[in-house]
Order: sequence, then structure tokens, then C-alpha cells
Amino acid sequence: MSLASGAGPQLLLFSLGMGLVSGSNCPVNCLCQAQEVSCTGMQLMEYPLNIPLNTRRLLLSNNKIASLPALQLGFLSDLVYLDCQNNRIRELMDYTFIGVFKLIYLDLSSNNLTSISPFSFSVLTNLVRLNISNNPHLLSLDKYTFANTTSLRYLDLRNTGLRTIDHEALHHLVALQTLYLSGNPWKCNCSFLNFAIYLLVSKLDHPDGQNATCTEPTELSGWPITRVGNPLQYMCITHLDHQDYIFLLLIGFCIFAAGTVAAWLTGVCAVLYQNAHRKSSGDDTEDESGNRVTDQIFRSNSYFGQSRFPQLT
Ligand SMILES: *[C@@H]1O[C@H](CO)[C@@H](O)[C@H](O)[C@H]1NC(C)=O
Ligand SMILES: *[C@@H]1O[C@H](CO)[C@@H](O)[C@H](O)[C@H]1NC(C)=O
Ligand SMILES: *[C@@H]1O[C@H](CO)[C@@H](O)[C@H](O)[C@H]1NC(C)=O
Ligand SMILES: *[C@@H]1O[C@H](CO)[C@@H](O)[C@H](O)[C@H]1NC(C)=O
Ligand SMILES: *[C@@H]1O[C@H](CO)[C@@H](O)[C@H](O)[C@H]1NC(C)=O
Repeated sequence: MSLASGAGPQLLLFSLGMGLVSGSNCPVNCLCQAQEVSCTGMQLMEYPLNIPLNTRRLLLSNNKIASLPALQLGFLSDLVYLDCQNNRIRELMDYTFIGVFKLIYLDLSSNNLTSISPFSFSVLTNLVRLNISNNPHLLSLDKYTFANTTSLRYLDLRNTGLRTIDHEALHHLVALQTLYLSGNPWKCNCSFLNFAIYLLVSKLDHPDGQNATCTEPTELSGWPITRVGNPLQYMCITHLDHQDYIFLLLIGFCIFAAGTVAAWLTGVCAVLYQNAHRKSSGDDTEDESGNRVTDQIFRSNSYFGQSRFPQLT
């Protein structure tokens, strides 16, 4: 008896410890089987506790979770599949996913993301599918957000309020195949040109390509952004504004003025030279009559010069 009562608390501590280490528990209201934990549609307000540590698939969709805690998530180092669709996640901090570096599938669609830190996905080098669609208050993405997600093949950016995107933002996604961009108020000004050219040359699959259109400027409104590269290039590189015409006109005038001045100076020099030549060589020119045609032309010019010369001095 005395032995059993002594072992009781030890056993409890031991099983608790085993529970934490082996992860044999299951969160309340969730279903746990074969390394998958499903807490879908359980009205959860917070990330659930007691998730088995060997979990590979975690389904948290259709709840009211407001944030993902990096620390707790980090215990799940085998996690490859994380579905957080339709929750209330507002932001992703630096290194939110630092412990779950094996992640292949990440669904953050239909949340209320207002910002994604550039280092949120920095360790997710195995990520193949990322869905951040239906986060209408996101509005912008940092140019380094996808710098290390080099395995990404599917990226869904629909309905994220994006107006523009840095042309280098997707440059590291060498494996990217499918990109969704519709439902965003794309602003196709000249800063957008490089991204538009990237879309033209990068041979990606755009299943919603016809619906991903410019809303601004009005001349390009309705153009699919996957094909706006050429008109944008025309508008931004070859197209001339009023200022450009005025500038060209000024340049033309300057060239004309410089030419006139140069011609006048040449004329003055020629006249001065003729003056000096006439004074030094006297009657010589008259004795050289009957030479080659070019000489005659020169001489006729020089006679002309001589005849005009006295009037000029
Ligand atoms: C992203 O999630 C939305 C729903 O939130 C879904 O309709 C869409 O098909 C998903 N995109 C991809 C590429 O799986
Ligand atoms: C989502 O975020 C926006 C901007 O922060 C806020 O105005 C809105 O109330 C939020 N919506 C929900 C459902 O939390
Ligand atoms: C990408 O990974 C490297 C090395 O792992 C790290 O130094 C860098 O900060 C990461 N960059 C981003 C933008 O996460
Ligand atoms: C284009 O629009 C974006 C977003 O409004 C702005 O940041 C950028 O300065 C604009 N670029 C030009 C060349 O007007
Ligand atoms: C494009 O938008 C229209 C109207 O909103 C919709 O009916 C259609 O399914 C969309 N097409 C694609 C490929 O997303």
C-alpha cells in the first residue's frame, strides 16, 4: 500500500512527461489519427494545446484563431501540411514558421492578414503550395517575402488587395508553375513595367489570367496583366509627353543656333584668310589660269571673295 501511494504521483508525472514527449494526447474536440490532427470547424479562438509532437498534418480550418504562436508550432518539427484556411489570423511575424521547416503545404487563405513579415517564410525551403488568397487587407508584399521559398510551385495571391508587386519578389521562385493574381486592383503604371515583363517572359501558368486585370490607368483598365507588358513598354519607353516634345524642340533649336554660329564663324575665318592671302600673294592667282576644274572653282570662289572683300573691310 505504502509503495503504491508513493508511486502514484511519480507515475502521474511520468505519464505527463511521456504525454508531452511522445505527444500521445489529443486536443479537446479534435480528431487525432495516424499523425493527422483535425480541428476543423470547432469554433477555436486560439491555437489548440496538446497537439501530438509527431503530427505531420494539422487541419485548423474554419475556426476563429487570431494568431499562430511560433513557439508551440515549433514543437511540430515533422509537420508537412498546415491548413489554416478561414480563420482570423491578422499578421505573420518574423519566423512564425521557423520550427516547421519541413512544411510542404501551407494554406492561409480567407483570413484577415494585414501584414506578412519578410522573414515569415524564410526557412520554408520545402514549401510547394502556398495559398494566401482572400486576405483583402493585405495590400502589399515585401520584395524578400519569397526569397527563400525556392521549391514553391503553386502560389495563390487572389483577392489580397495588391496594387503592385516588386518585379524581384518572385525572382527566386525558380520552380514556380502556377500563379493566381486575379481579384486585385492592379495599378499598371511605369513602376509595374518590370513585373509585367517578368509575367510575359516567365512562361507561368495563369489559370485566372483573363481575370487578373489592370484597374489603373484608365487607358489600360481591363487589360490582363499577363499581356500588358507590350503596351506598357510603349507607354513608358517610346511614348512622348508634351514635356518631351518641348524638350526635343529646344534641342532642335539649340542645334540650329549652334550650326548658324558655326557657319558664321567659318565665314568670318574664310574671309580673314582670303584677306591675308590676297595681301601676301598679290597678282599670283591671275597667272595660274587654265588649271584643273577644282582649282577653277576654288579660284572663282577666291575671285568672288576678293571682289566682296573691299566692301567688308
Ligand atoms: C486557395 O484557397 C481558396 C479558398 O480559400 C481556394 O478556393 C483556392 O482554390 C485555393 N488555391 C489553390 C491554388 O489551391
Ligand atoms: C480585418 O482587418 C481590418 C483592418 O485591420 C479590420 O478593419 C477588420 O475589422 C478586420 N475584420 C475582421 C473580421 O476581423
Ligand atoms: C534566407 O536564408 C538565409 C540562410 O538560411 C538567411 O540568412 C536569410 O536571412 C533568409 N532570407 C530571408 C529573406 O528570409
Ligand atoms: C506607381 O504606383 C505605385 C503604387 O501606387 C507608386 O508607389 C509608384 O510610385 C508609381 N510609379 C510611378 C512611376 O508613378
Ligand atoms: C473570371 O471572372 C468571372 C466573373 O467574375 C467568373 O465567372 C470566371 O469564372 C472567372 N474566371 C476565372 C478563370 O477565374
